[in-house]
Amino acid sequence: MSDLKEQHGTTGHSWDGIEELNTPLPRWWLWTFYVTIVWGIIYTILYPAWPLVNQATSGVLGYSTRAEVAAEIEAVNQSNAAITERLASVELTEISADAELNSFAQNAGAAVFLTWCAQCHGSGAAGAKGYPNLLDDDWLWGGDIEAIHETITVGIRQPADAEGDWLRQSEMPKFGADDLLEDADIDAVVNYVMSLSGTPQDAALVEAGATVFQENCASCHGEEAMGDRDQGAPNLADAIWLYGGDYASIHESVYNARYGQMPAWDNRLTEAQIRAVATYVHQLGGGE
Ligand code: HEC
Ligand code: HEC
Repeated sequence: MSDLKEQHGTTGHSWDGIEELNTPLPRWWLWTFYVTIVWGIIYTILYPAWPLVNQATSGVLGYSTRAEVAAEIEAVNQSNAAITERLASVELTEISADAELNSFAQNAGAAVFLTWCAQCHGSGAAGAKGYPNLLDDDWLWGGDIEAIHETITVGIRQPADAEGDWLRQSEMPKFGADDLLEDADIDAVVNYVMSLSGTPQDAALVEAGATVFQENCASCHGEEAMGDRDQGAPNLADAIWLYGGDYASIHESVYNARYGQMPAWDNRLTEAQIRAVATYVHQLGGGE
C-alpha cells in the first residue's frame, strides 16, 4: 500500500484516515477517450449536428436522410413514368383490358384509397352512415368507370370546377324544417317509403303517403322510387340506406334533408392517381 502511495501520491482527500490514491487512468482508456473526442469533432464537421435557430448545421458531406428519401421516391417515379403516362392518357374503358396497366392501377389505386378515401368510406370501402358503401352495386351517381372517375374528379356538391361547371349537384328540400309539408304528410310519406322495401306499414298511411310521394318526391326519386342518378337521388325501394332505414332516420332525411358532400380530388391528386383509384373502386365488386 505504501509503495503505491509513494509511487503515485494521494489526491489529498482523506476520510477517517482512508486516503485516496492519485493513480493515473489506464493508458488504453485514456487514448480511447481522446479518440472519441476527436471522432466527435470530425463527425460534427462532416454530418448535420449543431442545432441552430431554424435548422441544424448541415455538415460538409451534405448528407440528409430527407434528401435520400426524396431521391428514392424520384427514382421510383422515374421507373414508373412510362406506365403512369399511359394510365393518364388511354381511354378509361381500356384500362381494365390491359393486364399490365390494370394491375399497376389496382396497386396504385389501393394506396391512394387508403391514404385519401378510407377516412370516410372505410379501409375496406364498406362505408358508414352518410358515407356510401363502394362494394355493393348500388350507386347514387353511377357505377361505370366513367361515372366513378367523374365523381372522384369533381366531388359531390362542391363549388364549380375550373371550367365553371357545377357538376354532381342536387339538393333535397328540407320538407319539415322549411314547412313544405305538414307533419302528418311527413309521417305518411315516411310510412310509404318504409313500405317500399318490404316493412309492413299501416295501409291507410301508406296510401296517403303514396300521394304525397308522387307530388313531392317523384321528381327526384322517380315515380317508382327507384332513384335518379342524374341528381344523385337514391333508390328508396332497395332496402339499401345511406342514412338508415328505420322510422327515425327516414323521418330525419325528409324533415331536415341531408346534403352529403364529398371533396373534389382534381386539385389534390394527379389524373393518373384519380384514374388508379377509380379503377380500384370500379373493380371492388360493385362496378358496372
Ligand atoms: C370527407 C369524406 C369523404 C372522403 C375523404 C371521400 N369521400 Fe367519397 N363520398 C363521400 C360522401 C359523403 C359521398 C356521398 C355523397 C352523396 O350524398 O351523394 C361520397 C360518394 C362517393 C362516390 C359515389 C358513390 C355512388 O354511389 O355514386 C364515390 C365513387 C366515392 N365517394 C369515391 C371516393 C374516393 C375514390 C375517395 C378518395 C379519393 C373518396 N370518395 C373520398 C365522402 C367522402
Ligand atoms: C330535389 C330532389 C329531391 C326531392 C324533391 C326529394 N329528394 Fe330525397 N333525396 C334527394 C337526394 C339528392 C338525396 C341524397 C341524400 C343527400 O342529400 O346526401 C335524397 C335522400 C333521401 C333519403 C335518404 C335515403 C337513404 O338512403 O338514406 C330519403 C329517405 C329521401 N330522400 C326521401 C325523400 C322523400 C320522402 C321525398 C319527398 C317528400 C324526397 N326525398 C324528395 C333528392 C330529393
